[in-house]
Amino acid sequence: MTSFRDNLLAGKTAFVAGGTSGINLGIAKRFAELGARVAVAGRDPDKARRAADEIGHDAIGLSGDVRDYGAIRGVMETVADKFGPMDIVISGAAGNFLAPVLGMSANAFRTVVDIDLNGTFNVFRGCHDLLNTPGASLIAITAGQAVNASALQAHACAAKAGINQLVRVLALEWGPDVRVNGISPGPIADTEGMKRLAPDDATREAHYARIAMKRWGKVSEVAESAVFLCSPAASYITGTILDCDGGSQVGDASRLDLARGMA
Ligand code: HXC
Ligand code: NAP
Repeated sequence: MTSFRDNLLAGKTAFVAGGTSGINLGIAKRFAELGARVAVAGRDPDKARRAADEIGHDAIGLSGDVRDYGAIRGVMETVADKFGPMDIVISGAAGNFLAPVLGMSANAFRTVVDIDLNGTFNVFRGCHDLLNTPGASLIAITAGQAVNASALQAHACAAKAGINQLVRVLALEWGPDVRVNGISPGPIADTEGMKRLAPDDATREAHYARIAMKRWGKVSEVAESAVFLCSPAASYITGTILDCDGGSQVGDASRLDLARGMA
């Protein structure tokens, strides 16, 4: 039986920057399942084509670097030409690696800030006149590093904190016509981010102990958060950062394990 939810995004056009793998690809797939026309983009054109095939539903895969305003603007013009004005834009491209500040060149720091923060500015600034307004919904994919400082993450902490403030400023400036929100995923299983930031058992165990819900998140759970923020159920929500993280940012749940150990 077809329910309202099965067609929740019918007639909508969605563009996902950085949507060719991982969490963002999961979001793109879910949007397509719910009826949206979907376009994804990353730097690698072959990866983008493969992602579009995986999404199905006539999705398109394009290539462009979010650090290059002209390139990503061109990608979004192509999307609007093909599908019409965009209802949903996700900015999710990111780069990350573990490095202490003294093990990071100026170019290394700049590279991550450029992809994550400047990239999000470029995607959102560049999409505005291509949006279907009023009612368009923009979402930036941020991270807990935006609010909780983390060693070996100076670049990502600075970049994601900037993204959170950019979301809030855009919500204020574009309020009547465009809703602008963020999603902050926790540690999500089977992703490139987890491979890079929790590469060994000791790091994974330390991460795990801190999580209130005592499990890794799923790509599908972040995708459902994105569906919610783009749906009529979120029609009065703008300028918010939605934590989809099993309670990771609430605090450190590992003390409970210690207390249990003492009992
Ligand atoms: C120190 C490093 C480094 C490392 C790269 N650099 N890796 N420095 N430690 N491990 C330095 C390089 O030496 C160079 O500086 C500068 O960074 C740029 O490197 P390039 O390789 O030239 O950059 P580029 O080809 O643009 O690639 C960008 C990248 C790469 C970020 C370095 O890893 C990438 O493309 N990543 C995309 C995928 C990704 O990271 N996904 C995970 C997202 S997860 P010099 O001075 O030598 O020129 C996430 C957070 C999730 O965002 C949170 C999970 C809990
Ligand atoms: P991922 O699989 O590495 O996805 C990154 C995507 O961005 C890919 O499609 C990649 O394709 C694209 N990309 C990277 N640099 C780009 C650039 N300069 N221009 C255009 N596209 C670019 O990562 P993930 O782990 O799923 O993370 C996705 C998002 O969730 C990121 O914003 C990340 O910060 C956030 N997040 C992840 C976790 C986690 O547990 N994984 C936790 C918190 C937050 P190309 O390589 O082809 O460019």
